[in-house]
Amino acid sequence: MPKTIKKLAVLTSGGDSPGMNAAIRSVVRTCAYHEIQCVGVYRGYEGLIEGDFKEMSARSVKGIINKGGTILKSARSKEFRTIEGRQKAYDNLVKADIDGLVVIGGDGSFTGSLIFNQEFGFPVMGIPGTIDNDIVGTSHTLGFDTALNTVVDAIDKIRDTASSHNRLFFVEVMGRDVGHIALNAGIAGGAEEILIPEENLGLERLVDSLNRSRKSGKTSSIVIVAEGDKIGKNIFQLKDYVDENMEGYDVRVSVLGHMQRGGAPSCFDRVLASRMGVKAVESLLDGQTNYMVGLLNGKMELTPLEKAIKGKTKINLELLRVSDIMST
Ligand code: F6P
Repeated sequence: MPKTIKKLAVLTSGGDSPGMNAAIRSVVRTCAYHEIQCVGVYRGYEGLIEGDFKEMSARSVKGIINKGGTILKSARSKEFRTIEGRQKAYDNLVKADIDGLVVIGGDGSFTGSLIFNQEFGFPVMGIPGTIDNDIVGTSHTLGFDTALNTVVDAIDKIRDTASSHNRLFFVEVMGRDVGHIALNAGIAGGAEEILIPEENLGLERLVDSLNRSRKSGKTSSIVIVAEGDKIGKNIFQLKDYVDENMEGYDVRVSVLGHMQRGGAPSCFDRVLASRMGVKAVESLLDGQTNYMVGLLNGKMELTPLEKAIKGKTKINLELLRVSDIMST
């Protein structure tokens, strides 16, 4: 029989994403609804190791559903990668009478919580929070939708100046290993070409595509480049390549960077965060551990952490084709 849960802890870890606050709020309020205590842990696993805890009440999370970032702060903890660090974290949790942990973060954070559970048998539940949308077991990670809207807004603005000056813009978006942001925002922003890590289109294809755009009467172009693109050149080298090898282009580069991680979460992310928080707490109360909550076919589902961290989300090939057709 699993131990009856009377007190849970929640932390945010890894790169922050819009919707993390809404998820914290949901975890805290679900605990209050079920009349169990809830503790917030500051700075992810760092705070777990240092015992940096704070009791959270339903009222302590008022006014945060619409805020970007995370009120609990986030960190990438080196010490939690060591057994000594994890032992300190475990001791602190036991000392504070905490019976389970909700981890809001990405695959690196889930790897840490899985190892922690395997070593100490401590119940853990993951909520996928990252703008990259690169976690298996959910169609959407928290923050992905907001980041897309931020990027599309930026592309729209860049398009204004690109067309005023008849320029070619390379716009870099986040996605270290995956092109979900690039592909979706690229289609929504009407990009002429989208370069993603999953598909190495090669320079020739890019050159062809730019030439085709020009022949078809386009006077300005936007090429979206995921930061992890494997074409072999970074965004500034791409500009240099076009400057040196293609006539008549006035090229500019825009790297959107960390602004993609901030801002008020979209309606979609707020609802998703609220649903995920409820599912995470109630699953722990049901005696489940080592799962991640996710959105699959419109429903909240559990996926084993092991599967969530090992898998690699696949790019939707249909989207690639749509993008090709739309740039005609
Ligand atoms: O949140 C994920 C991510 O945005 C990646 O796409 C990016 O490479 C990374 O975080 C950068 O994070 P940081 O600057 O915090 O190390």
